[in-house]
Amino acid sequence: LDKVDRPTVIWLEFQDCAGDSEAFLRSRNPSAADLILGMISLDYHETVMAASGTAAEKARDDAVAKGGHLVVVEGSIPTGIPGACTIGGKSAEDILREAVRGAAGIINVGTCSAFGGIPAAGPNPTGAVRVEDVVGGVPVVNLTGCPVNADNMTATIVHHLTFGEFPARDRFSRPLFAYGQRIHDTCQRRGHFDAGEFAEQWGDAGHRNGWCLYRLGCKGPSTFHNCPSVRFNGGTSWPVAAGHGCVGCSEPGFWDTMSPFYDR
Ligand code: SF4
Ligand code: F3S
Repeated sequence: LDKVDRPTVIWLEFQDCAGDSEAFLRSRNPSAADLILGMISLDYHETVMAASGTAAEKARDDAVAKGGHLVVVEGSIPTGIPGACTIGGKSAEDILREAVRGAAGIINVGTCSAFGGIPAAGPNPTGAVRVEDVVGGVPVVNLTGCPVNADNMTATIVHHLTFGEFPARDRFSRPLFAYGQRIHDTCQRRGHFDAGEFAEQWGDAGHRNGWCLYRLGCKGPSTFHNCPSVRFNGGTSWPVAAGHGCVGCSEPGFWDTMSPFYDR
């Protein structure tokens, strides 16, 4: 890996909450600092770059002109109301189309860029769509989640640096190493599910004792992600460990297909 030229990465942010950028800054294997300073050349990232205005736009244009870059996309694209998301006077759709020209691949971080996410939830006032509805012809990997798990993102980037391609993916372009198993099958509360031990009310004895959250609305049985093993914030915890059911944030159609989140 130390013999690989640092590839250029352009990070685009459209309709989103910046949660994926926040998650990236908390990555640990490797850390965001190790990745930016030693493995990639992050030439454009609206939220964290020092440059602004025309200097920032020029950095992006120069990176695209070189070609062979990776485009990271955070957020959905408002095709119904292009003016809902503009940067430097350009619409998100135009910026995306220009940025992927000559790119080696697209990494969609978070469910908004991969599937439309919350901006595309009904009634979808801006006509929000996923990246793959706007551009094609470039290899795509979808790192879904709300937000993305930063460890899965850095692992995907390092895999691309090492092998020159994205890891094996499922039918939704999600890497199998991170989305190959259901939450329900690796969940720490699964033994209680099998034993018929369920929390029935928030705060009841079953809830406090770590019993299964299925009857409180947990969507773990229909969600694929490695949250139980990789966890978040440096491996600290994940939703079910914190006492809240999985809301299915990594699946197509989230939020509409996964709500209501609470059965009680
Ligand atoms: Fe499955 Fe959710 Fe129960 Fe865990 S808490 S065993 S994911 S239903
Ligand atoms: Fe999302 Fe469920 Fe993991 S809500 S973060 S896929 S536990």
